[in-house]
Amino acid sequence: MKKIVPVVVGCTTLLALWPALAQDDGVVTLDPALFEQGQVIYDANCVACHQPGGVGLEPSFPALNANDILTDLNFVIGNIAQGRGAMPAFPDLTATDIAAVLSFIRNAWDNDFGGVTPEMVEEVLAGLEERAELTSVWEVGMFTTAQAERGENLYEGWCAECHGARLNGAPEDPDRRSSPALAGGSFLNKWQGTSVATLFEYMRVTMPESNPGFLPDQDYADILAYMFFENDMPAGDNELPPDTEALAAYVITLKPAE
Ligand code: HEC
Ligand code: HEC
Repeated sequence: MKKIVPVVVGCTTLLALWPALAQDDGVVTLDPALFEQGQVIYDANCVACHQPGGVGLEPSFPALNANDILTDLNFVIGNIAQGRGAMPAFPDLTATDIAAVLSFIRNAWDNDFGGVTPEMVEEVLAGLEERAELTSVWEVGMFTTAQAERGENLYEGWCAECHGARLNGAPEDPDRRSSPALAGGSFLNKWQGTSVATLFEYMRVTMPESNPGFLPDQDYADILAYMFFENDMPAGDNELPPDTEALAAYVITLKPAE
């Protein structure tokens, strides 16, 4: 995933909501004591599904050996702490336990992804907790249908030429390079866990790509309302405000199962 460049808006809440910056820069050396402790945790909690050798059990349980996803600490720590699909949550593992099991699975077998410290895990866990306190865009009606209609007109004028009339990223003009879809699974997948303020700021500062920041803030809010409408998110009684501080309380998440 492309990294979004933080935008300074003089709003500390927004910066605090930035996805935890646990970048895998490969400089953390492996702590052999954590590795050993991690092997014990793995054998007790993980081996039944992920199997000796980390080979997994296709198609149900993914292999952890030679699996690049292990470089994405936000993702794997979220998986372990909160569960995901058929992967159970392990809420009783401490940050040190998680650092240990990650030190093990990232360096056992053919893997060589480097060490993980308890501090790195704590940072990611704190970010997860903060996001859990936010309201999901699916829980409330964040915009009105009238606002989404205004947004549709603006979208058609300023955005559709690149992002497609149906927000699917297919440009109207075949000479344009295609742009990301602004509705549907891949869009939500990319922005999930991000606050609405971040998406608003991203749009406001970088779009339309040909003329960034050109529109009044209200127009960006209206276009965002239209994008949410096209993503099937619920409309409500209040408009989506062009106000990053207010928008920072809401988080984009995947569409809940019906
Ligand atoms: C009951 C079976 C089960 C157990 C026990 C289990 N996992 Fe998983 N694990 C899964 C499944 C299923 C997935 C795929 C989840 C998904 O994305 O739908 C998964 C995914 C993962 C992933 C991400 C891999 C990928 O390619 O998406 C990691 C890392 C992981 N598990 C680590 C662990 C660790 C560490 C433990 C022990 C603390 C553990 N798992 C225990 C079933 C299990
Ligand atoms: C000239 C073409 C062009 C126009 C016009 C344009 N965009 Fe974009 N947009 C892009 C491209 C290209 C990207 C991908 C940028 C990148 O990844 O660096 C993008 C990315 C985005 C993203 C992030 C999507 C994602 O998942 O990465 C959003 C949101 C967005 N644009 C909204 C808008 C809005 C709203 C408008 C109208 C106000 C607009 N864009 C107008 C070309 C355009």
